[in-house]
Amino acid sequence: VPDVVYVVDDDPLVTESLGTALRLETGEDIRTFNRPEDALAVLPDAPPAVVISDFKMGPMDGLTLLRRVRDQVPDAVLMLLTGYADKEMAIAAINQVGIYQYIEKPWDLGDLLAKLRAALERRSLVRRLEQKSADLSRSLEELRLTQERLIETARLAAVGRVVSGIAHELGNQLALVGYAEAIRRRTEDPEVREFADVIVAAQRRLLAMVEEIRDFVRGQSSQLDAEPMALSTAVDDALAILRFDAEVKKRHVTRRPGPDASAAAVLVRGHRAKLAQVVINLVRNAVQASPDGGAVEVESGVDVEGAFLRVRDRGVGMPAEVLARIGEPFYSTKGDRGTGLGLVISRKIAEAHGGRLEIESQAGQGTVATLRLPAITSVTEPAPARAEGASA
Ligand SMILES: Nc1ncnc2c1ncn2[C@@H]1O[C@H](COP(=O)(O)OP(=O)(O)OP(=O)(O)O)[C@@H](O)[C@H]1O
Ligand SMILES: [Mg+2]
Repeated sequence: VPDVVYVVDDDPLVTESLGTALRLETGEDIRTFNRPEDALAVLPDAPPAVVISDFKMGPMDGLTLLRRVRDQVPDAVLMLLTGYADKEMAIAAINQVGIYQYIEKPWDLGDLLAKLRAALERRSLVRRLEQKSADLSRSLEELRLTQERLIETARLAAVGRVVSGIAHELGNQLALVGYAEAIRRRTEDPEVREFADVIVAAQRRLLAMVEEIRDFVRGQSSQLDAEPMALSTAVDDALAILRFDAEVKKRHVTRRPGPDASAAAVLVRGHRAKLAQVVINLVRNAVQASPDGGAVEVESGVDVEGAFLRVRDRGVGMPAEVLARIGEPFYSTKGDRGTGLGLVISRKIAEAHGGRLEIESQAGQGTVATLRLPAITSVTEPAPARAEGASA
């Protein structure tokens, strides 16, 4: 592709003879102009590689033209054509504008051609250099990203070690909660019995969680013991536990439909404690995002896609950058109050059930978290009664 070269001079004799000579000698795309404005007008459509301009021209002088060209086409090579009388003034101006060459009138064609070739050569070198430097900064950016990812992986591994240590210790301490069962057996006081039941249930849940965290750190998920169950029992279990949560007490948690409505009997094949865990995680998040007195709604049901369990709040919501990161383990915006595992674990539980977890949220608009599970259309075996499954 030939380079575009502008020749600008108010004297048509100059543009004519110089234009013709350059066309013959160079094979470049030579364009001649007698008014600087005309050259500027075609600048966007035909950006020049080189502009050779006369110094003194009518209303707009050559330096003004070259300055404008430089602003719009920064890599164009600028050359000034000047008469001998203006030489001193031109040289002073050249230093200000940063012009590559000046050519004295009358020009020597051989000399002018040599300067033009050198200019084009220089420009293509500059271009190649820019290309190389762009390549280099791209490689650098890739390197930086790779390094970041490596650091992240190392960080996760380190956090994983700490977490499994904590999980181990927690498991040991939780064994002590077994005393709650003893207390329950030895008392007749119904209130103490109820409290003991809550402690026992919490212990089971925590032990399951410890197991979950261990599996998570090991990068595997434990075999899921799923049984046909009413989805609403997971809500019952979760709300029974959350009843005692100080943050939950300060919000209005409502459920739809009510526990004895017929639509509440949506059946799924599920792991009761793990599904309850998901509800707990989602309701906790909803509660923590809501102001005191805020409304949180838990809804279970069936639609065309299957069974669903939806937790809706009108709290702070999530800006796009938070929403994009909630799948990452240990990502939390809650500082010390969050481990950033709630949603990751919930999602894993959903997937282990052949379902999924959907989160819709907008900053300031609240959040809708939906657990989707395959619904059971016909139950071939009756749901076996489980030891701890003493629900109403
Ligand atoms: N209902 C919600 N409203 C607004 N932001 C939410 C909501 N649910 C989750 N988030 C955002 O997603 C992040 C991750 O949630 P996740 O439950 O995984 O961790 P966490 O609540 O921070 O800690 P924890 O492990 O104790 O649950 C939260 O820190 C919060 O920024
Ligand atoms: Mg959470």
